[in-house]
Amino acid sequence: MTQDSMTNPDSRTDSQSTDLEGSNQTSDPLVDSSIDTGQSGGSGGETRTVIESRNLDVFYDETQALQSVDIEIPAEKVTAIIGPSGCGKSTFLRCINRMNDLVDAARIEGELNFEGKNVYDDDVDPVVLRRKIGMVFQSPNPFPKSIYDNVAYGLDVQGIEGDYDAIVEKALRRAALWDEVKDQLDSSGLDLSGGQQQRLCIARAIAPDPDVLLMDEPASALDPVATSKVEDLIEELSEEYTVVIVTHNMQQAARISDKTAVFLTGGELAEFDNTDKIFENPESQRVEDYITGKFG
Ligand SMILES: Nc1ncnc2c1ncn2[C@@H]1O[C@H](COP(=O)(O)OP(=O)(O)O)[C@@H](O)[C@H]1O
Ligand SMILES: [Mg+2]
Repeated sequence: MTQDSMTNPDSRTDSQSTDLEGSNQTSDPLVDSSIDTGQSGGSGGETRTVIESRNLDVFYDETQALQSVDIEIPAEKVTAIIGPSGCGKSTFLRCINRMNDLVDAARIEGELNFEGKNVYDDDVDPVVLRRKIGMVFQSPNPFPKSIYDNVAYGLDVQGIEGDYDAIVEKALRRAALWDEVKDQLDSSGLDLSGGQQQRLCIARAIAPDPDVLLMDEPASALDPVATSKVEDLIEELSEEYTVVIVTHNMQQAARISDKTAVFLTGGELAEFDNTDKIFENPESQRVEDYITGKFG
């Protein structure tokens, strides 16, 4: 069912596509970061920055949604983004893999670096970028296709070659869904429960073996049991992936994240620190007021 992807002239193998550019030729030292190992390189506790924004401004027409955001997101940790509604959390997330390209009104200034390369440079191919930076959305959005084809979808789109059966199984196992669906891979993804659908979407996002997973309120449409499964899964995934999760649920941020960024109204990054520090002893009064529920 997946053979047509093998004939795609744009197909690239795993070992070829470690750069963000359309071409396989690169001398950029920042793009050889071993996409396939899933290891932190045995560097023993050192944190490496994967995503960095500098002076990042985003406007929708005349409205400024992010103001001069500077942040350094560490590898293989969970970074939570919290803040009141409308403060730019989703906007920031969408900057990272250039989903804002799809919004006509959006304009971006400043830098958004991934592995040291500005993703807004002219030579960056957004399709290649999105293979390395996958995304999971708020409402589970499986396609009206089989479970198998939902997971294989990203492989097809990206022209990834390989043993699809093995890749699909691995992604479903990593998404903690395999045992529940292994005997019904041909049934529709839409027949699953909400929580299973969201884990299916996570499997779809990780099948192309990205480095980073962006999640925009991935559990906010789920019941508490399904939420707890997704939270456990996110913590597991952070052993292999850099996870950036937007959540309006502060307890969730406190439970699952290593780092927390607090955005406040106007699109300003008010504070970014270890999660314990943010929740126990934030630097600014405004952040304390927000996390203690005085507004937002
Ligand atoms: N596509 C869009 N067009 C115009 N304005 C937008 C668009 N998306 C978001 N905004 C505005 O940008 C600001 C930040 O929105 P958003 O990033 O969605 O915030 P959050 O995710 O924190 O709720 C809000 O004022 C919102 O109305
Ligand atoms: Mg949002």
